[in-house]
Amino acid sequence: MRAIRLPFVDIIAGARPNFMKVAPIIHGLQKRQLAGGKLDFRLVHTGQHYDVRMSGDFFEQLSIPPPDINLAAGSGSQAEQTAAIMIGYERLLHEQPSSLCLVVGDVNSTMACAIVAQKQGIPVAHVEGGLRSHDWSMPEEINRLVTDAISNLFFTTSTSAGDNLLHSGVPASRIHFVGNTMIDTLLQQLPNLRPPAFWNPLSLTPQSYLVLTLHRPTNVDNPTTLSNLLTTICATCQNTPVIFPVHPRTAKTLATLPPLPIHLHQVEPQPYLEFNYLVKHAKGVITDSGGITEEATVLGVPCMTLRTTTERPETITMGSNELIGEDPARLRTALQHLLTGQWKSSTIPPKWDGQTGQRIVAILEELFA
Ligand code: UD1
Repeated sequence: MRAIRLPFVDIIAGARPNFMKVAPIIHGLQKRQLAGGKLDFRLVHTGQHYDVRMSGDFFEQLSIPPPDINLAAGSGSQAEQTAAIMIGYERLLHEQPSSLCLVVGDVNSTMACAIVAQKQGIPVAHVEGGLRSHDWSMPEEINRLVTDAISNLFFTTSTSAGDNLLHSGVPASRIHFVGNTMIDTLLQQLPNLRPPAFWNPLSLTPQSYLVLTLHRPTNVDNPTTLSNLLTTICATCQNTPVIFPVHPRTAKTLATLPPLPIHLHQVEPQPYLEFNYLVKHAKGVITDSGGITEEATVLGVPCMTLRTTTERPETITMGSNELIGEDPARLRTALQHLLTGQWKSSTIPPKWDGQTGQRIVAILEELFA
């Protein structure tokens, strides 16, 4: 194992949407170390996602160093997965406590490690703190509420996230509006984006297709709900190919459905560079992800979210995203607008400028100076 010097920050990453968020912070710390900076880090992979397609590809493409530790928590129910991560991380902190635990986003790994660190008296910093969908049926919202309730330091992506924290009693001195590390990664990787292997075989050309992603339990765990969504999309987009990278959770339900129309192209989960190439050149994106609405906003690509709430309101008030909810009639109308080029124009939210990782590292260094 790499020798790690004190003071060091534990950087926690567990699931696919974490990897692009931690990369700029790790690269920022590495850059400072080369310039004589004294703050070290330990990269802890919880193992929440473990497939090459959900994890390994991202490390390779985003030049993230191999994790110092892999807790290998794996899949399970909400409680099983959270517990496995907590047990693994507690053991690690007993062996070698860190100076700060830095968590990102809202996945189970985020909450699990925040609880363990705080109970051992290790301060917690939450990157992307303060987001709220106010929808307690989403496991991510519970993760956000718990993590923010016990974090010491908050790095926020928007002023509205900061306002949410202020309203819950967090002192302003602990909130740093730094921007969006996920967008750092996107801007840095723009020149490296590349078409997936199926680009030519499917005769895809820019603006000729849509990208679809679905993985929220409320959309994909029930076969009837998933089938209704896909049927509406396919019927409305008769002449437009729909590229559908299928999340493992969604694949389980899809396997129980009758075959779908051939212009719905089911493909494997895509690596980062290929996925964002697809988004950048798409006519539009249909998704239930939060992060993708931010990327579509920065790329200026029309985006519709198949949820009734969002924790990222700037993607709607400033960006290219619209909340469509679960009503097939509304989805049909929105798709018709999108396909006929009637979509709103968008702007990029403040501080989504590619410098967020550096801002975070500067604040961390000051903390340990
Ligand atoms: C998790 C996050 C969600 C995030 C999503 C991105 C929580 C509560 N949810 O949801 O916020 O948007 O990741 O993907 O943390 N599986 C594999 N291989 C893997 C990982 C998972 O096959 O590498 C399968 C397992 O059968 C698992 C299922 O996918 O049961 C779901 O994985 P899980 O980590 O429970 O949640 P996600 O739906 O991926």
